[in-house]
Amino acid sequence: MEYPKASQVASGLEFLAETGSTNQDLSALAKQTELPEFFTLVTDFQSAGRGRLDRAWEAPPASSVMASVYLKPRFENQSGVGWISLLVAQAIKQTIEDLGVSANIKWPNDVLISGSKVSGVLAEVSQDLSSVVVGFGINVSQEAKDLPVQNATSLLLAGASSLDRDSILASTLKNLRVLYSELVAAGGDAQVCGLRQQLLDSSATIGQLVEVMFKDQESVMGRAVDIDDTGRLVVKTQTQTLVVSAGDILHLRAYEQDD
Ligand code: BTN
Repeated sequence: MEYPKASQVASGLEFLAETGSTNQDLSALAKQTELPEFFTLVTDFQSAGRGRLDRAWEAPPASSVMASVYLKPRFENQSGVGWISLLVAQAIKQTIEDLGVSANIKWPNDVLISGSKVSGVLAEVSQDLSSVVVGFGINVSQEAKDLPVQNATSLLLAGASSLDRDSILASTLKNLRVLYSELVAAGGDAQVCGLRQQLLDSSATIGQLVEVMFKDQESVMGRAVDIDDTGRLVVKTQTQTLVVSAGDILHLRAYEQDD
């Protein structure tokens, strides 16, 4: 499928019928060529789609939006880069809500509909820290049997008003451009441009009892209370306040006792 509407919004768009991973391809391309910001690579099928924490991202052919966007943020405030994956999640949330479905964001990168994941974001910073490839997958037309895990959903299952992947990508890129230019104009300060507040308002995580699982298998339980000025999650345990920049978050609402 070609993406004529999204091509109007991107600064150059390349469509691949099939590939391994658009994030990997775009990172490789950026090493060979000088790319403009908002150059976008989109595909209908990935055989080696990458997710956060070394997970895979899988979707049947032509069932989802899978794209990667090139950004070259030059923020005065270094913490700006920490907001990019949240910013993209916010852009996707806005797109979904324009399709008549309410969505929220599980810190740091999942977009949820009624508690089920409809979209994930993977931001990868280049080795010299000068650019970011931010990829996202949005489940569009999968039936329940096509979804890789039980707590996932698609726009079809949620009753979205359109399943046109070109329009969904175009809308996401449009929203992303607005949010990104506001962050750039604020020198990378998410508080000043209002992004931090938007994310607090969109958050499915704030206020929840959570388990934070770190790469080394350690985990801690506490309540998610804030997103700090660099985009990290603030979690209050019984004994301390932790600031989490990476790690997997499990929402424990299902296990929480009524007070
Ligand atoms: C996650 O939920 O852990 C993030 C998933 C990100 C998937 C997208 S699909 C397009 C882009 N290319 C990849 O290999 N991954 C991202």
